[in-house]
Amino acid sequence: MADNRPIGMFDSGVGGLTVLRAVHEQLPRESTIYLGDLARCPYGPRPQHEVRDFATQIADHLALSDIKLLIIACNTATAAAYHHLRDRYPFPVLGVVDPGAAAAVRLSASGHIGVIATDGTVASGAYHNAVLERLPSAQVEQRSASWLVPLIERGALARTTVARELEPTMTELRELSIDTLILGCTHFPLVRDIFEAEIGPSVSVVDSAVTTALEVDILLSAMGARADGDPAHRLLVTGPAEAFSERAQAMFRASPRIETVDFLPDYVS
Ligand code: DGL
Repeated sequence: MADNRPIGMFDSGVGGLTVLRAVHEQLPRESTIYLGDLARCPYGPRPQHEVRDFATQIADHLALSDIKLLIIACNTATAAAYHHLRDRYPFPVLGVVDPGAAAAVRLSASGHIGVIATDGTVASGAYHNAVLERLPSAQVEQRSASWLVPLIERGALARTTVARELEPTMTELRELSIDTLILGCTHFPLVRDIFEAEIGPSVSVVDSAVTTALEVDILLSAMGARADGDPAHRLLVTGPAEAFSERAQAMFRASPRIETVDFLPDYVS
């Protein structure tokens, strides 16, 4: 039996669009509903409990659209809220940390893995734990680059400045002899080429987008819940969407209609 209900997804902003794109490519028949929490982006510097409350509010909102599956397309929100959301709904919930960790463990020959993520994700230790669960002998080096999220969000990147700012951290990680670098923030694949140039050719760069889409594919097949209709895609935002709209247009080569959602500013779950 086909299931044509949409897949729900969210992020603080444009980062999760990298996961959305991978889902579209892997599963072209699936309908999606994506929410970018632009009004409260960035999540990275916020305390975990606040991110968990935002994530719960958004997931409750997406649940109203009768979604069949939820993807937390944000590492910071996955680190803060995955277990809470997984236990809250009747539909399955997937985060992006486990798929990213799994991809890195598959790729790394030495087991020496670097993670570049937001403050919140690094502080949670989510990648550290997810990698060690799969490879107990692994060594994980985590570094934060929260500052990069608002720049990517605004779309106004001075590429040479970003490269210069990243250079000390990338040099440090390279000197620690990592052979694999996880882009542990869904915003970072949007400037993947800068990371690749700064970390150098001896280190493989991975992100969660494609692996997450593959996991969704496997899960929907196991549930017997693949779609077979004409897909419909909705994009929701909580704040001014000019840069978001430009990014979505560039990524999906279409002019998407963007709907604005108003959340109560002081929501607590
Ligand atoms: N894209 C998100 C992540 O993967 C959130 C970044 C942020 O809002 O700081 O962590």
